[in-house]
Amino acid sequence: MKRVITYGTFDLLHYGHINLLRRAKALGDYLIVALSTDEFNRVEKNKVCYFSYDERKLLLESIRYVDLVIPEEGWEQKRTDVHLYHVDTFVMGDDWTGKFDFLKEEGCEVVYLPRTPEISTTQIKQDLNSKS
Ligand code: CTP
Repeated sequence: MKRVITYGTFDLLHYGHINLLRRAKALGDYLIVALSTDEFNRVEKNKVCYFSYDERKLLLESIRYVDLVIPEEGWEQKRTDVHLYHVDTFVMGDDWTGKFDFLKEEGCEVVYLPRTPEISTTQIKQDLNSKS
């Protein structure tokens, strides 16, 4: 069984997220999503989420490509998660290219997938704000 992991906030879930999750799952058999907690988003990523952690988790767990959702609470946990969850492949969108290559040292494959163009949570928020 090949296990894949990806990390992110996944607020206001959109088709760019679904494309990423579909392609991540296709790289293996079991997909784990490490979902940034509200605290981690606020303190470390300077992001305020529209949906709470529990709401974002509920949405992700309803997607057929996602097998397990775990909390992402710090930058450092990736190294340990890889071993804890017996991860074969680490996947992120290509906005993160090169940033997590150090995980190869832990024995896992690192893949950056091209982002879906012209959609992001930030873009959705900006568009809705400018229309109201
Ligand atoms: N992602 C993607 N294509 C998009 C948007 C996101 O492939 N159009 C990927 C990101 O590269 C990341 C994952 O989805 O691997 C979660 O991204 P996240 O930062 O939660 O989503 P964004 O829409 O980019 O949110 P924001 O605008 O707040 O940065």
